[in-house]
Amino acid sequence: LEPTPAPAPLRGRRALVTAGPTHEPIDPVRYLANRSSGRQGYAIAAALARLGAQVTLISGPTALAAPAGVERVSVETGRQMRDAVFAALPAEIAVMTAAVADWRIADPATDKIKKRPGGTPPELRLLPNPDILAELSAPGPDRPRLVIGFAAETSKVGENARDKLARKGCDWLVANDVSGDVMGGADNAIELLTPQGSEHWSRRSKEAIATMLAGRIATALGPRTP
Ligand code: CTP
Ligand code: CA
Repeated sequence: LEPTPAPAPLRGRRALVTAGPTHEPIDPVRYLANRSSGRQGYAIAAALARLGAQVTLISGPTALAAPAGVERVSVETGRQMRDAVFAALPAEIAVMTAAVADWRIADPATDKIKKRPGGTPPELRLLPNPDILAELSAPGPDRPRLVIGFAAETSKVGENARDKLARKGCDWLVANDVSGDVMGGADNAIELLTPQGSEHWSRRSKEAIATMLAGRIATALGPRTP
């Protein structure tokens, strides 16, 4: 008897996943960043690949190895991430888990900033980074069929997430409460907001959340029409 092949409901579909933090340079040795580890995004990329999708993982700096069967594009800044996302199109599925820095340093120094004896600390002027999720969600010929945003909140999670879903123009939004040990931790608990309503997925491993979400994505897209 031949072994039964694993079911691959996403075979032939292209997916892009963003993950990790971005690093916004202050000078050649310093940067602005956040606590994202990339674990949830990497787990989602792996889960989509297990279901047969052709996955491009656009990752900020993390300590993680690229999951098996996933093409990883490594970037550093939010603007590099935006360019890599649009270069990875077309894709039917986009899952945007990256914790993109909301601001970048207006004029990063080309040499290391020195502290001079008695000198005042430098003032950092910030500029907004592009909102990759909002840009990708805007109507257009290359818009993925299913765009999923993530929302990192520390308070009023449900309420902020509803606002964010409307503001970003994405199709689904996964809200996580990052007030505890979610960022960098092994587990996650989420609220999944779709046009059909909202669901709470209680605390479990980021891999388990990823497997559930990949299954949902496969169900939503349905069988592939040749
Ligand atoms: N996102 C993005 N590009 C940015 C900022 C955020 O693509 N410059 C995406 C994230 O990957 C995530 C979603 O937008 O999927 C929400 O990110 P979040 O930081 O929670 O929301 P913001 O709109 O940046 O609002 P705030 O940080 O003020 O809560
Ligand atoms: Ca943000």
